[in-house]
Amino acid sequence: MLGNLLRRLTGNSHSDKRASEPVRPLPQAAPISPSSPDALPPADLELGEVKAWLDLDVRQRVAAVRDALSREDRATDAPAFLDALTASFEAVVRQPPLAAQRALSVTRDPQANAGKLVGLVETDPGLSQGLLRYANSAFYATSGGRCVSLMNAVHRVGTTGVHNVVLRAMVDGLLCRPGGAFQAQVDLVWSHMIRTAPIAQGISSSFAVQADEAYALGLLHDVGKLVVFDRLGELRRELKRDVRFPASITSLTLRYLHEPLGGLAALQWGLGPSVAHAISTHRRSPVPDMLDRRCELLYVAEKLDLWRLGAQEGDEPPLEDWWRDGALNVSRVGVGAAIAALPSGEEAAAGAG
Ligand SMILES: [Fe+2]
Ligand SMILES: [Fe+2]
Repeated sequence: MLGNLLRRLTGNSHSDKRASEPVRPLPQAAPISPSSPDALPPADLELGEVKAWLDLDVRQRVAAVRDALSREDRATDAPAFLDALTASFEAVVRQPPLAAQRALSVTRDPQANAGKLVGLVETDPGLSQGLLRYANSAFYATSGGRCVSLMNAVHRVGTTGVHNVVLRAMVDGLLCRPGGAFQAQVDLVWSHMIRTAPIAQGISSSFAVQADEAYALGLLHDVGKLVVFDRLGELRRELKRDVRFPASITSLTLRYLHEPLGGLAALQWGLGPSVAHAISTHRRSPVPDMLDRRCELLYVAEKLDLWRLGAQEGDEPPLEDWWRDGALNVSRVGVGAAIAALPSGEEAAAGAG
């Protein structure tokens, strides 16, 4: 029973796939023809339209997961948790603390000078360390010697680089401490996100995506999973006991809801509708109707990170399968070359110091 529903929810059923899939209305932005290879990702998505689309998508997916609950599942905390997810999205996605909001607004200001950016990070040891780590990462290692001063680091990575450092610290502080039985799962998801960010950055040029934006996309692509765990942690605090949530429903909820919830989080944190669209479609199941290079980038970066975990030395990533399954438009040869030039996971970690 659950297997059938899972197949239906995840789009792996072939017979009546179209009829049984929830409707996913796309925003009204003009579709870009997949036949124009140089077309940029949709830049004209309207924030209100994307938000309305994501709201509706979450509601439909919550309803589908709710339908999948067995009688035993319904006797647990799962129904109340799922209902709470649709109550108020503003409450579902935590707002960053004021200090983080202020820091993010400084790093969004293209006029912010280097002195202001240094002032922003130097009072916070975590941000200072994060900035130096980012400036000395494998991606920036070709820009000269090792950065030891914050001013040099700001000059090297620019405003968008500092933005990524603040963003990473913000998500880490905001969503990574649910406690209880969920902590180990959060740690796994967060480390996958942290590894995916530099992969996305490293292959970004072959998708015509700006490198620092690619890092932010990779860093946040699974943030919807952290939102789910955060809400479970909140419920645990409210109930003053461990949440009774069957493991099979936890994985179904994570798999099926993390894309639109991640998109809503991106919107709520001011990252814009294009980033939200890419995050909310990154599994490409179903394949989005709109050409979106950011979405294609995320799809490859995430797959590459997960593939690397099990790969042996000399293995080649199965690009042909990924291109077929994800119906990718981007050049496989170009991305393949970018992947080949990436540092290995260990090298990247060592370079990040
Ligand atoms: Fe994902
Ligand atoms: Fe992922």
